[in-house]
Amino acid sequence: MTKKFYITTPIYYVNSSPHIGHSYTTIAADTLARYYRNILGEENVRFLTGTDEHGQKIQRAAQSAGLSPSEFTDEIVPAFKKLWEKLGISYDDFIRTTQERHISCVGRVLEILLEKQLIYPDTYEGWYCTPCETFWTEKQLLEGSCPDCRRPVEKIKETNYFFKLSVYQGWLIDHINKNPSFIQPEIRRNEILSFLTLNTLTDLCISRPKERLNWGIPLPFSPEHVTYVWFDALINYISATGAFGADGKYDSKWWDKDTTIVHLIGKDILRQHAVYWPIMLNALGLRMPDTVFAHGWWMVGDDKMSKSRGNVVEPLSMADKFGIDVYRYFLLRDVPFGMDGNFSEESVIKRYNSDLANDLGNLVYRTLTMVEKYFQGNIPEKGRLNTQGQKIEESIEGLSLEPLLIFYNFSAALEKIWVLINMANKYVEDTKPWNLAKENKTEELKAFIRLLVDVIRGASSALEPFMPGTARSINEQLGSDKINKGNPLFPRIE
Ligand code: MSP
Repeated sequence: MTKKFYITTPIYYVNSSPHIGHSYTTIAADTLARYYRNILGEENVRFLTGTDEHGQKIQRAAQSAGLSPSEFTDEIVPAFKKLWEKLGISYDDFIRTTQERHISCVGRVLEILLEKQLIYPDTYEGWYCTPCETFWTEKQLLEGSCPDCRRPVEKIKETNYFFKLSVYQGWLIDHINKNPSFIQPEIRRNEILSFLTLNTLTDLCISRPKERLNWGIPLPFSPEHVTYVWFDALINYISATGAFGADGKYDSKWWDKDTTIVHLIGKDILRQHAVYWPIMLNALGLRMPDTVFAHGWWMVGDDKMSKSRGNVVEPLSMADKFGIDVYRYFLLRDVPFGMDGNFSEESVIKRYNSDLANDLGNLVYRTLTMVEKYFQGNIPEKGRLNTQGQKIEESIEGLSLEPLLIFYNFSAALEKIWVLINMANKYVEDTKPWNLAKENKTEELKAFIRLLVDVIRGASSALEPFMPGTARSINEQLGSDKINKGNPLFPRIE
């Protein structure tokens, strides 16, 4: 078992307001952070999120808002923080790439790589996609357009600084092969391995001339250039840990050998995280993250979500409509982490009615009702159980969330909790407690009800990282020996 756990989300671009995709990664990271805090203790878990504030996209968005880039980012960042607060996101640190701690770390990284002769100037002539901020060779273009976004590209010629990615290709293939859990899920690992074995890496252009883009971190050794936004952004994962602090010395509590380090990202930014980032770290002589996990995309029907299509799902309005925990539950339960999903309000309602109203909500409500009705609200003592009851008791004790620990499989972990919940619901139907009451079988009734209470306690504690608010209200309603029955947790939506 690891001693410390460091989990990160991507840092989000602030050129548009947060949508379901941002909230997905962040809710998943929050769940893992809460889970590990329960096991390792609060002080041994670090959960980092933040914002990516440099580059052309932001400069342009600021321009069209009639603000300076820094005024613009200062205005948008609170919207992210407000959303995270609303969704119950328990981050420990929020990094902004415009913060001094980050800027000085990036400067130091650039100097070190220059000293090691891993960064060099060169004149580049070729194609550039401005929206993607990516250079393309003639061969890579698709019918003359950007192969990623299909928009027109511009021909440019300029002097820039390059990072020697190519030197490390063999090393990276080897690292991925030796560490099967480094890139997950497997489909993404294979994607990167085949990319690395079929292509020769070209060096990465890590600067932009100031005359074209001035909103970025200046290169310490070339005042006419700023740092390429992706090179700057990836470094957030170490700058936030205090790496290469003000005195230029390396000191980091979280980027050390005793910590399990996990980056959660979306599949569209895998190459940056699984190729550029490990090579940057290796060049700096720093350790690798344990895992880069790339999840899938949420779609609407068969479409990607986008402002222009007008189908963007707003996390805040979903949380307002269905409740925060329902939203969290749906995202983590409906699709195995790593696969694409389809978002629709109908599917949220379907999950809600079956899993939350029918299964969990019903179990809690009927149990509390029986405690009230048969024992005046006092939770009875444990007693002798029949075989079915004993099986359930074993399942409470055996409930473990390994799928989550090992495979980041949130939905499988939730499914395990629901197996227990449904065993208990079936136990109620099979036992027919109203008959026990009629026949005055008080001891049996006590043991039976107490077991249901124990199931709810077990399920609620396992659920806490996923649905913290629900776990809290269940615990409030259950109390320690006398219940405080409230309204049903999840009234059916018709
Ligand atoms: N700023 C970069 C990340 C730098 S990390 C060093 C960035 N930001 S982003 O705001 O554009 O996207 C952040 C994340 O949102 C990505 O992981 C992306 O996969 C995710 N999503 C964006 N739309 C999504 C969906 N529709 N569904 C799921 N996630 C998606 O990229």
